[in-house]
Amino acid sequence: MRILSGIQPSGALHLGNYFGMMKPAIELQEKGEAFYFIANYHSMTSLFDAGERRQNTLDVALDFLACGLDPKKTVFFKQSDVPEVTELTWLLTTVTPMGLLERAHSYKDKIAKGVSPNHGLFAYPVLMAADILIYDSNIVPVGRDQKQHVEMTRDIAIKFNETYGQTFVIPEPQIRDEVAVVPGMDGQKMSKSYGNTIEIFGDEKATRKKIMGIVMDSRTPQEPKPDADKNLAIQLLKLEAPRDVVKGYEDRLRAGGLGYGDLKKALFDHYWGYFAPARTQRAELVTAPDYVNQVLSEGASKARAMASKTLKRARVACGLE
Ligand code: ADP
Ligand code: TRP
Repeated sequence: MRILSGIQPSGALHLGNYFGMMKPAIELQEKGEAFYFIANYHSMTSLFDAGERRQNTLDVALDFLACGLDPKKTVFFKQSDVPEVTELTWLLTTVTPMGLLERAHSYKDKIAKGVSPNHGLFAYPVLMAADILIYDSNIVPVGRDQKQHVEMTRDIAIKFNETYGQTFVIPEPQIRDEVAVVPGMDGQKMSKSYGNTIEIFGDEKATRKKIMGIVMDSRTPQEPKPDADKNLAIQLLKLEAPRDVVKGYEDRLRAGGLGYGDLKKALFDHYWGYFAPARTQRAELVTAPDYVNQVLSEGASKARAMASKTLKRARVACGLE
């Protein structure tokens, strides 16, 4: 079974990225042949600063390795080190109906937010389809917001196979229901673009301040809160604390007597403790950039060997060779 996923180097990674995508992806590396990459081509649709892209790319690599990606088990690489994927994108664009791309939620959401779209943003799902299909991927672990993109990949692969004969494996998205959408500090989906994130490797003081600043309602500590399970701090605590600990806080909130300040303090402490081993690991990796670059370049050679075979198959199928 081949497992593939990617993440854009478009800013510091946050709890939504970690629990929605990285943690499931890291766990899956035990279950099959995993290919994970840093989607730097995709980041070009929305980030226009070369230095920032370079730095973010290194940061994402450090974050993933620190969180447990094992380069002995997993092929880990930069998307742009496999330029074959851009050629496959072209082949796929020619069987991709305009209407399919026009229906993409993430594209429509960005337009609705006033982003002035470039062609790359519109064509984004086709590059993503090429990423997935070029490695004959079976399973794609992603957060719920990416589900539609994987479904579009399936449609594009089926269309190509119907047009030119069996060429691509049809992939399946894999979404963890319990963490499908991690809420941000304002209760909306946590996202770099909403400015509501809690970073995985945030600075201690700044992150404490962020968490203590989460706005709650104005009920007094004594008041019983029958909706305790909907409380944002409880939802975030569920990600990092053992079940009985969460239940303890939830019960105290429901009964009345627990102040929101104490709850947020507990949330910070659990968050900080949860990522402590990864934080130590990351501090070591920062001092070894050559090691990180070597991991990515070895990953790229393995990925490229596979990608060129699939591309060749597709070129032959459609009569370019
Ligand atoms: P962002 O919305 O912050 O820009 P990305 O689109 O780069 O995040 O997402 C990278 C990965 O993390 C994707 O697989 C996505 O589904 C997952 N992800 C991002 N935010 C969340 C969230 N709030 N909850 C669950 N998964 C998320
Ligand atoms: N679009 C994904 C995101 O923003 C990143 C990505 C690019 C990806 N190519 C992929 C994810 C292929 C899974 C498979 O999160």
